[in-house]
Amino acid sequence: MSTVDAVYQEMQAFFKPLWPGEDKPLVLGDGKADRPVLMLIGEAPGETEVIKGRPFVGKAGKNLDEFLRLAGLEREEIFVSNVVKIRPTEKGPTGRTRNRAPNKEELSLFTPFLLREIEAVQPGALVTLGNVPLKALTEGKITVGDCHGTWLDSRPGIPLFALYHPASIIYRRALAPVYEQDVLTLAHFLRKGEK
Ligand code: URA
Repeated sequence: MSTVDAVYQEMQAFFKPLWPGEDKPLVLGDGKADRPVLMLIGEAPGETEVIKGRPFVGKAGKNLDEFLRLAGLEREEIFVSNVVKIRPTEKGPTGRTRNRAPNKEELSLFTPFLLREIEAVQPGALVTLGNVPLKALTEGKITVGDCHGTWLDSRPGIPLFALYHPASIIYRRALAPVYEQDVLTLAHFLRKGEK
């Protein structure tokens, strides 16, 4: 059985005993799990994603809606997932739990499962958001600043289109038109069936 559900079953069995006493539910991929036109891959779920049990909801869901609008796609046509499937957290200065970037251990634990997830889903193309999924799928060779808006070869052998993470636009406003142009470029390729 090589469906994505089989991969997810294995992941649940692997990760459940890994962090005893800690509540780290897996937020698994969502959408068209059988040969979608593309698979969108983010970094890791945040608080709302854990509460709802789906990737890219809450604030990130607005980014996803904007991506879909620009790309001329519906959420049901694509598959959406993250490299790391738990929410990486730390305590901030006031003691509140906040998100942090995935660490090396989390990336090395989750990346082999991401590769198997991609193989099970067989998307027409991979679209990475930011450096975390880009590095996982190109073995860390290139950064998003160098290759956004272009097609690359990926580790699973599926064409990969690199985008900035839409959340980074909040901190770097100058990236907003760059991101928008990159999504329009992607839409153009998808319409023409070229990669
Ligand atoms: N939510 C996700 O599911 N992934 C991200 O990369 C950011 C927010």
